[in-house]
Amino acid sequence: MSMSFELKQIGTIRTPYTDNAPYQPINNDKGEFRIVIDSAYAEGLHELDLFHYIYVIYYMHRIKRKESITVIPPWTGDMKVGLFASRAPVRPNPIGLSIVRVKRIINNEIFTSGLDVIDGTPLLDIKPYIKDLDSKCDANYGWIEKLEDREHLSLHIKGIPHDY
Ligand SMILES: C[S@@+](CC[C@H](N)C(=O)[O-])C[C@H]1O[C@@H](n2cnc3c(N)ncnc32)[C@H](O)[C@@H]1O
Repeated sequence: MSMSFELKQIGTIRTPYTDNAPYQPINNDKGEFRIVIDSAYAEGLHELDLFHYIYVIYYMHRIKRKESITVIPPWTGDMKVGLFASRAPVRPNPIGLSIVRVKRIINNEIFTSGLDVIDGTPLLDIKPYIKDLDSKCDANYGWIEKLEDREHLSLHIKGIPHDY
């Protein structure tokens, strides 16, 4: 039997994106990216600034499209894959995950590199990204390896400007 859960918002993510955000975080994205933790949780940031990267976990509160069990990811032409083989936001639980660089932490605010989220997105959790534990040296590209022109497509996915 499946269960339902209630989650608590623990902060708010501030970004320059009021409507559309990039598909994935852009490391050197322009503008200010800030995670504001509710003051009740601020003490939980102690020593977090010693990590270069963090996982940011959030609730994609403005999803308009219906959830879907298969998706055609953008830039792939017509490649259909299972939802769970994708990062598409149309999920049964619209939870997003981004890895970003910590620039500085001031009081209850974490200033980061670019985030792929809409301004005002509710924050669910933060976890440190830990070298060796979190980097898998035999990671691959899954179905993306089947695509022709994979390197070019990955520039689109990462939002990296390039000449066609
Ligand atoms: C492809 S999803 C991937 C998100 C995350 N990096 C992941 O892998 O879980 C990124 C898209 O989610 C959408 N998005 C971001 N924040 C959202 C929010 N609060 N509500 C609805 N859609 C959101 C943006 O349009 C963005 O292009």
